[in-house]
Amino acid sequence: MIAKKPPMGFNTWNTFGEMFNAQMLCELADAMVERGFKDAGYEYLIVDDHWEMDERDPETGRLVPRPAKFPNGIKEVIDYVHSKGLKFGLYSCAGVKTCGMKPASFNNEYLDAKTFAEWGVDYLKYDYCAKPETQDGDTLYRRMGIALRECGREILFAACNWGQSDVTSWIRSSGAHMYRSTHDIINTYESTCGIFRSQVDKLGASAPFCFNDMDMLTVGMKGAGGPAGNSKGCTPGEYRIQFCTWCMFGVPLILGCDLRNVDEEYRDLLCNEKLIRINQDEEARAPHPIAVNDRMEFMKELSGGEYAVLLINTDTEDTRKGFVSYDMGWKASSGCKMEFEDVLSGEKLTFTDYVRIPVPAHDCRMFIMRLVD
Ligand code: GAL
Repeated sequence: MIAKKPPMGFNTWNTFGEMFNAQMLCELADAMVERGFKDAGYEYLIVDDHWEMDERDPETGRLVPRPAKFPNGIKEVIDYVHSKGLKFGLYSCAGVKTCGMKPASFNNEYLDAKTFAEWGVDYLKYDYCAKPETQDGDTLYRRMGIALRECGREILFAACNWGQSDVTSWIRSSGAHMYRSTHDIINTYESTCGIFRSQVDKLGASAPFCFNDMDMLTVGMKGAGGPAGNSKGCTPGEYRIQFCTWCMFGVPLILGCDLRNVDEEYRDLLCNEKLIRINQDEEARAPHPIAVNDRMEFMKELSGGEYAVLLINTDTEDTRKGFVSYDMGWKASSGCKMEFEDVLSGEKLTFTDYVRIPVPAHDCRMFIMRLVD
Protein backbone atom coordinates (compact mmCIF):
# COMPACT_ATOMS: atom_id res chain seq x y z
CA MET A 1 0.00 0.00 0.00
CA ILE A 2 1.60 3.30 -1.05
CA ALA A 3 1.44 6.77 0.49
CA LYS A 4 -0.10 5.76 3.78
CA LYS A 5 2.67 7.99 5.15
CA PRO A 6 4.27 11.05 3.52
CA PRO A 7 6.46 9.79 0.63
CA MET A 8 10.25 10.17 1.01
CA GLY A 9 12.88 10.36 -1.71
CA PHE A 10 15.21 12.48 -3.81
CA ASN A 11 14.48 14.52 -6.96
CA THR A 12 17.01 15.78 -9.55
CA TRP A 13 15.39 19.19 -10.15
CA ASN A 14 16.63 21.53 -7.41
CA THR A 15 20.33 20.99 -7.97
CA PHE A 16 20.68 19.49 -11.43
CA GLY A 17 17.83 20.82 -13.60
CA GLU A 18 18.49 19.25 -16.99
CA MET A 19 22.13 18.38 -16.19
CA PHE A 20 21.86 14.72 -15.27
CA ASN A 21 22.65 11.41 -16.94
CA ALA A 22 22.52 7.68 -16.32
CA GLN A 23 25.89 7.48 -14.60
CA MET A 24 25.08 10.31 -12.23
CA LEU A 25 21.71 8.73 -11.37
CA CYS A 26 23.47 5.47 -10.49
CA GLU A 27 25.92 7.40 -8.30
CA LEU A 28 23.01 9.13 -6.58
CA ALA A 29 21.37 5.74 -5.98
CA ASP A 30 24.67 4.50 -4.48
CA ALA A 31 24.85 7.59 -2.24
CA MET A 32 21.27 7.08 -1.08
CA VAL A 33 22.25 3.65 0.17
CA GLU A 34 25.85 4.19 1.30
CA ARG A 35 25.24 7.46 3.15
CA GLY A 36 22.30 6.10 5.12
CA PHE A 37 19.42 7.92 3.39
CA LYS A 38 17.72 4.66 2.45
CA ASP A 39 17.96 3.32 6.00
CA ALA A 40 16.43 6.59 7.24
CA GLY A 41 13.39 5.99 4.99
CA TYR A 42 14.14 7.77 1.70
CA GLU A 43 13.08 5.34 -1.02
CA TYR A 44 12.23 7.09 -4.33
CA LEU A 45 14.91 8.34 -6.73
CA ILE A 46 12.98 10.71 -8.99
CA VAL A 47 14.07 12.05 -12.37
CA ASP A 48 12.42 15.38 -13.16
CA ASP A 49 11.86 17.17 -16.49
CA HIS A 50 14.26 16.94 -19.49
CA TRP A 51 14.65 13.17 -19.58
CA GLU A 52 12.54 13.09 -22.78
CA MET A 53 13.38 13.62 -26.47
CA ASP A 54 11.79 16.66 -28.13
CA GLU A 55 9.37 14.44 -30.07
CA ARG A 56 7.52 11.20 -29.45
CA ASP A 57 8.51 8.10 -31.41
CA PRO A 58 6.70 8.62 -34.76
CA GLU A 59 5.82 4.93 -35.04
CA THR A 60 4.76 3.96 -31.56
CA GLY A 61 3.73 7.41 -30.29
CA ARG A 62 5.68 6.73 -27.10
CA LEU A 63 7.89 9.12 -25.16
CA VAL A 64 11.58 8.50 -25.80
CA PRO A 65 14.36 8.94 -23.20
CA ARG A 66 17.24 11.14 -24.45
CA PRO A 67 20.05 8.85 -25.67
CA ALA A 68 22.67 11.43 -24.64
CA LYS A 69 21.50 10.99 -21.04
CA PHE A 70 20.58 7.31 -21.23
CA PRO A 71 23.02 5.72 -23.75
CA ASN A 72 21.81 2.19 -22.87
CA GLY A 73 18.15 3.11 -22.40
CA ILE A 74 16.29 4.17 -19.28
CA LYS A 75 15.37 0.65 -18.23
CA GLU A 76 18.98 -0.10 -17.36
CA VAL A 77 18.99 2.78 -14.85
CA ILE A 78 15.62 1.80 -13.43
CA ASP A 79 16.83 -1.78 -12.98
CA TYR A 80 19.96 -0.50 -11.22
CA VAL A 81 17.88 1.66 -8.87
CA HIS A 82 15.68 -1.35 -8.10
CA SER A 83 18.74 -3.54 -7.50
CA LYS A 84 19.67 -1.14 -4.69
CA GLY A 85 16.32 -1.73 -3.03
CA LEU A 86 15.10 1.74 -4.08
CA LYS A 87 12.15 2.84 -6.21
CA PHE A 88 12.26 4.93 -9.38
CA GLY A 89 10.27 8.07 -10.20
CA LEU A 90 9.76 9.92 -13.46
CA TYR A 91 8.15 13.19 -14.57
CA SER A 92 5.48 14.19 -17.07
CA CYS A 93 2.90 16.92 -17.38
CA ALA A 94 -0.87 17.25 -17.78
CA GLY A 95 -0.57 19.79 -20.62
CA VAL A 96 0.62 19.48 -24.20
CA LYS A 97 4.23 20.34 -23.28
CA THR A 98 6.22 19.99 -20.07
CA CYS A 99 7.51 23.12 -18.38
CA GLY A 100 10.81 22.41 -20.19
CA MET A 101 8.95 22.31 -23.55
CA LYS A 102 9.21 18.53 -23.96
CA PRO A 103 6.25 16.42 -25.13
CA ALA A 104 3.76 15.91 -22.26
CA SER A 105 0.94 13.48 -21.57
CA PHE A 106 -2.24 15.37 -22.57
CA ASN A 107 -4.32 12.94 -24.68
CA ASN A 108 -1.64 10.26 -24.25
CA GLU A 109 -2.35 9.44 -20.61
CA TYR A 110 -3.10 5.74 -21.10
CA LEU A 111 -0.18 5.09 -23.43
CA ASP A 112 2.24 6.92 -21.16
CA ALA A 113 1.03 5.20 -18.01
CA LYS A 114 1.43 1.84 -19.76
CA THR A 115 4.92 2.77 -20.96
CA PHE A 116 5.98 3.86 -17.47
CA ALA A 117 4.62 0.60 -16.04
CA GLU A 118 6.57 -1.44 -18.61
CA TRP A 119 9.78 0.35 -17.74
CA GLY A 120 9.24 -0.29 -14.01
CA VAL A 121 8.46 3.26 -12.90
CA ASP A 122 7.12 3.49 -9.32
CA TYR A 123 6.30 7.23 -9.01
CA LEU A 124 5.05 9.85 -11.44
CA LYS A 125 5.43 13.58 -10.81
CA TYR A 126 2.75 15.25 -12.95
CA ASP A 127 3.14 18.95 -13.76
CA TYR A 128 0.71 21.63 -15.00
CA CYS A 129 2.39 23.62 -17.81
CA ALA A 130 0.81 24.18 -21.25
CA LYS A 131 -2.62 23.07 -20.11
CA PRO A 132 -5.23 23.41 -22.88
CA GLU A 133 -7.57 26.25 -21.87
CA THR A 134 -10.62 24.14 -22.59
CA GLN A 135 -9.65 21.54 -19.98
CA ASP A 136 -10.13 21.65 -16.20
CA GLY A 137 -7.21 20.65 -14.01
CA ASP A 138 -9.67 18.43 -12.22
CA THR A 139 -10.38 16.38 -15.38
CA LEU A 140 -6.75 16.19 -16.45
CA TYR A 141 -5.49 14.86 -13.13
CA ARG A 142 -8.39 12.42 -12.84
CA ARG A 143 -7.59 11.08 -16.29
CA MET A 144 -3.98 10.32 -15.40
CA GLY A 145 -5.12 9.04 -12.01
CA ILE A 146 -7.32 6.43 -13.68
CA ALA A 147 -4.66 5.64 -16.32
CA LEU A 148 -2.19 4.87 -13.51
CA ARG A 149 -4.69 2.75 -11.61
CA GLU A 150 -5.24 0.70 -14.76
CA CYS A 151 -1.63 0.43 -15.96
CA GLY A 152 -0.86 -2.83 -14.21
CA ARG A 153 1.75 -1.48 -11.79
CA GLU A 154 1.51 0.34 -8.48
CA ILE A 155 2.68 3.88 -9.31
CA LEU A 156 2.61 6.72 -6.80
CA PHE A 157 0.87 9.73 -8.36
CA ALA A 158 2.48 13.05 -7.37
CA ALA A 159 0.42 15.94 -8.74
CA CYS A 160 2.19 19.27 -9.23
CA ASN A 161 -0.16 22.12 -10.10
CA TRP A 162 1.44 24.56 -7.66
CA GLY A 163 -1.64 24.85 -5.44
CA GLN A 164 -3.67 26.42 -8.25
CA SER A 165 -7.25 25.95 -9.58
CA ASP A 166 -8.73 25.34 -6.11
CA VAL A 167 -6.79 22.06 -6.12
CA THR A 168 -7.64 21.08 -2.53
CA SER A 169 -11.31 20.70 -3.42
CA TRP A 170 -10.76 18.01 -6.07
CA ILE A 171 -7.28 16.51 -5.84
CA ARG A 172 -8.13 13.67 -3.47
CA SER A 173 -10.79 12.44 -5.92
CA SER A 174 -8.22 12.27 -8.71
CA GLY A 175 -6.32 9.44 -7.07
CA ALA A 176 -3.22 11.61 -6.45
CA HIS A 177 -1.15 10.49 -3.45
CA MET A 178 0.39 13.94 -2.92
CA TYR A 179 -0.08 17.33 -4.52
CA ARG A 180 2.01 20.48 -4.66
CA SER A 181 0.20 23.01 -2.56
CA THR A 182 2.75 25.80 -3.15
CA HIS A 183 4.76 27.48 -5.89
CA ASP A 184 8.38 26.35 -6.49
CA ILE A 185 10.89 26.61 -3.65
CA ILE A 186 14.23 28.37 -4.03
CA ASN A 187 17.20 27.96 -1.77
CA THR A 188 16.67 30.99 0.47
CA TYR A 189 15.36 31.62 3.96
CA GLU A 190 12.62 33.90 2.58
CA SER A 191 11.33 31.15 0.28
CA THR A 192 11.33 28.60 3.13
CA CYS A 193 9.39 30.91 5.46
CA GLY A 194 6.98 31.99 2.71
CA ILE A 195 6.12 28.37 1.96
CA PHE A 196 5.64 27.14 5.52
CA ARG A 197 3.57 30.19 6.44
CA SER A 198 1.35 29.64 3.40
CA GLN A 199 0.53 26.12 4.57
CA VAL A 200 -0.45 26.66 8.19
CA ASP A 201 -4.16 26.93 7.40
CA LYS A 202 -4.16 24.34 4.62
CA LEU A 203 -2.92 21.24 6.38
CA GLY A 204 -6.35 19.98 7.41
CA ALA A 205 -6.59 18.61 3.86
CA SER A 206 -3.32 16.69 4.12
CA ALA A 207 -3.93 13.09 5.13
CA PRO A 208 -2.93 9.48 4.38
CA PHE A 209 -3.07 8.63 0.66
CA CYS A 210 -3.10 12.31 -0.42
CA PHE A 211 -0.63 14.67 1.27
CA ASN A 212 0.03 18.37 0.74
CA ASP A 213 3.46 18.81 -0.86
CA MET A 214 5.54 21.87 0.13
CA ASP A 215 8.10 21.11 -2.63
CA MET A 216 11.53 19.56 -2.61
CA LEU A 217 13.86 20.42 0.26
CA THR A 218 16.86 22.65 -0.35
CA VAL A 219 18.56 21.65 2.94
CA GLY A 220 22.29 21.17 2.31
CA MET A 221 22.36 22.88 -1.11
CA LYS A 222 24.27 25.84 0.38
CA GLY A 223 25.43 27.99 -2.57
CA ALA A 224 24.74 25.33 -5.22
CA GLY A 225 23.48 26.28 -8.68
CA GLY A 226 20.55 24.61 -10.45
CA PRO A 227 16.95 25.75 -10.82
CA ALA A 228 16.40 26.10 -7.06
CA GLY A 229 19.95 27.30 -6.46
CA ASN A 230 20.81 30.62 -4.94
CA SER A 231 24.28 31.84 -4.14
CA LYS A 232 23.00 33.05 -0.77
CA GLY A 233 21.76 29.66 0.36
CA CYS A 234 20.68 29.31 3.99
CA THR A 235 22.50 29.17 7.34
CA PRO A 236 22.48 25.95 9.39
CA GLY A 237 19.72 27.41 11.60
CA GLU A 238 17.64 28.38 8.59
CA TYR A 239 17.99 24.87 7.16
CA ARG A 240 16.88 23.51 10.55
CA ILE A 241 13.74 25.68 10.24
CA GLN A 242 13.09 24.20 6.80
CA PHE A 243 13.54 20.56 7.75
CA CYS A 244 11.72 20.86 11.09
CA THR A 245 8.69 22.58 9.54
CA TRP A 246 8.46 20.00 6.73
CA CYS A 247 8.64 17.25 9.38
CA MET A 248 6.17 18.94 11.72
CA PHE A 249 3.73 19.66 8.88
CA GLY A 250 3.73 15.98 7.85
CA VAL A 251 4.46 16.63 4.17
CA PRO A 252 6.53 14.53 1.72
CA LEU A 253 10.30 14.67 2.29
CA ILE A 254 11.85 14.86 -1.17
CA LEU A 255 15.52 15.83 -1.00
CA GLY A 256 17.00 18.24 -3.53
CA CYS A 257 20.69 18.53 -2.58
CA ASP A 258 23.49 16.51 -4.17
CA LEU A 259 23.40 13.39 -1.99
CA ARG A 260 26.87 12.39 -3.12
CA ASN A 261 28.62 15.27 -1.39
CA VAL A 262 26.17 16.97 0.98
CA ASP A 263 27.92 17.85 4.28
CA GLU A 264 27.69 15.31 7.11
CA GLU A 265 26.00 17.97 9.26
CA TYR A 266 23.05 18.13 6.85
CA ARG A 267 23.05 14.41 6.19
CA ASP A 268 22.61 13.93 9.94
CA LEU A 269 19.78 16.47 10.07
CA LEU A 270 17.97 14.93 7.05
CA CYS A 271 18.33 11.44 8.55
CA ASN A 272 17.44 12.37 12.15
CA GLU A 273 15.42 9.44 13.39
CA LYS A 274 13.14 11.45 15.72
CA LEU A 275 12.34 14.14 13.16
CA ILE A 276 11.46 11.49 10.61
CA ARG A 277 9.33 9.68 13.18
CA ILE A 278 7.36 12.90 13.72
CA ASN A 279 6.96 13.37 9.95
CA GLN A 280 5.88 9.77 9.42
CA ASP A 281 3.55 9.50 12.42
CA GLU A 282 0.80 7.08 11.49
CA GLU A 283 -2.06 9.28 12.67
CA ALA A 284 -0.84 12.05 10.30
CA ARG A 285 -2.52 14.80 12.32
CA ALA A 286 -2.13 18.38 11.17
CA PRO A 287 -0.10 20.58 13.52
CA HIS A 288 -1.73 23.66 15.00
CA PRO A 289 -0.33 26.96 16.21
CA ILE A 290 -0.20 27.06 20.03
CA ALA A 291 -0.37 30.76 20.78
CA VAL A 292 -2.37 32.60 18.20
CA ASN A 293 -0.33 35.81 18.24
CA ASP A 294 2.71 35.05 16.11
CA ARG A 295 1.95 31.52 14.84
CA MET A 296 5.56 30.44 15.29
CA GLU A 297 4.93 27.83 17.98
CA PHE A 298 3.32 24.63 16.80
CA MET A 299 2.08 21.48 18.44
CA LYS A 300 1.06 18.19 16.89
CA GLU A 301 -0.65 15.18 18.44
CA LEU A 302 1.41 12.04 17.82
CA SER A 303 0.34 8.43 18.13
CA GLY A 304 1.31 6.72 21.39
CA GLY A 305 0.30 9.61 23.64
CA GLU A 306 3.14 11.94 22.67
CA TYR A 307 3.19 15.46 21.22
CA ALA A 308 5.64 17.23 18.94
CA VAL A 309 6.39 20.88 19.72
CA LEU A 310 8.19 23.27 17.36
CA LEU A 311 9.39 26.74 18.38
CA ILE A 312 10.61 28.97 15.53
CA ASN A 313 12.52 32.21 15.92
CA THR A 314 12.31 34.25 12.70
CA ASP A 315 13.80 37.32 14.44
CA THR A 316 17.35 38.46 13.86
CA GLU A 317 18.05 38.34 17.65
CA ASP A 318 18.23 35.34 19.98
CA THR A 319 15.12 35.13 22.12
CA ARG A 320 13.11 32.94 24.49
CA LYS A 321 10.03 31.37 22.93
CA GLY A 322 7.19 29.82 24.81
CA PHE A 323 3.60 29.79 25.90
CA VAL A 324 1.31 29.06 28.82
CA SER A 325 0.07 25.50 29.21
CA TYR A 326 -3.47 26.84 28.88
CA ASP A 327 -2.68 27.78 25.26
CA MET A 328 -1.89 24.16 24.56
CA GLY A 329 -5.28 23.09 25.78
CA TRP A 330 -5.15 22.28 29.49
CA LYS A 331 -4.85 23.97 32.84
CA ALA A 332 -1.79 23.88 35.05
CA SER A 333 -4.13 23.01 37.93
CA SER A 334 -4.56 19.57 36.34
CA GLY A 335 -1.28 18.80 38.13
CA CYS A 336 0.47 17.54 34.99
CA LYS A 337 4.06 18.35 34.15
CA MET A 338 5.30 18.79 30.62
CA GLU A 339 8.45 16.82 29.84
CA PHE A 340 10.27 18.10 26.75
CA GLU A 341 13.00 16.20 24.91
CA ASP A 342 14.96 18.17 22.30
CA VAL A 343 15.04 15.96 19.20
CA LEU A 344 18.38 17.36 18.04
CA SER A 345 20.41 17.73 21.25
CA GLY A 346 18.62 15.24 23.49
CA GLU A 347 18.32 17.94 26.23
CA LYS A 348 15.47 17.27 28.66
CA LEU A 349 13.40 20.08 30.19
CA THR A 350 10.39 20.01 32.53
CA PHE A 351 7.74 22.72 32.95
CA THR A 352 4.53 23.02 34.89
CA ASP A 353 2.66 25.98 33.43
CA TYR A 354 4.93 28.59 31.83
CA VAL A 355 7.18 27.28 29.06
CA ARG A 356 10.16 29.46 28.17
CA ILE A 357 12.94 28.05 25.99
CA PRO A 358 15.89 29.89 24.39
CA VAL A 359 15.86 29.81 20.58
CA PRO A 360 18.72 31.41 18.59
CA ALA A 361 18.03 33.95 15.82
CA HIS A 362 16.82 32.41 12.51
CA ASP A 363 16.67 28.97 14.09
CA CYS A 364 14.19 26.65 15.76
CA ARG A 365 13.91 23.98 18.46
CA MET A 366 11.87 20.85 18.06
CA PHE A 367 10.75 18.61 20.92
CA ILE A 368 8.88 15.46 21.69
CA MET A 369 6.69 16.29 24.68
CA ARG A 370 4.93 14.04 27.17
CA LEU A 371 2.53 14.89 29.96
CA VAL A 372 3.42 13.24 33.25
CA ASP A 373 1.77 13.29 36.69
C1 GAL B 1 7.85 23.15 -12.50
C2 GAL B 1 7.79 22.34 -11.23
C3 GAL B 1 9.21 22.05 -10.80
C4 GAL B 1 9.92 21.29 -11.90
C5 GAL B 1 9.85 22.05 -13.23
C6 GAL B 1 10.40 21.25 -14.39
O1 GAL B 1 6.57 23.43 -12.94
O2 GAL B 1 7.08 23.04 -10.24
O3 GAL B 1 9.22 21.34 -9.58
O4 GAL B 1 9.34 20.02 -12.04
O5 GAL B 1 8.52 22.42 -13.52
O6 GAL B 1 10.33 21.91 -15.61
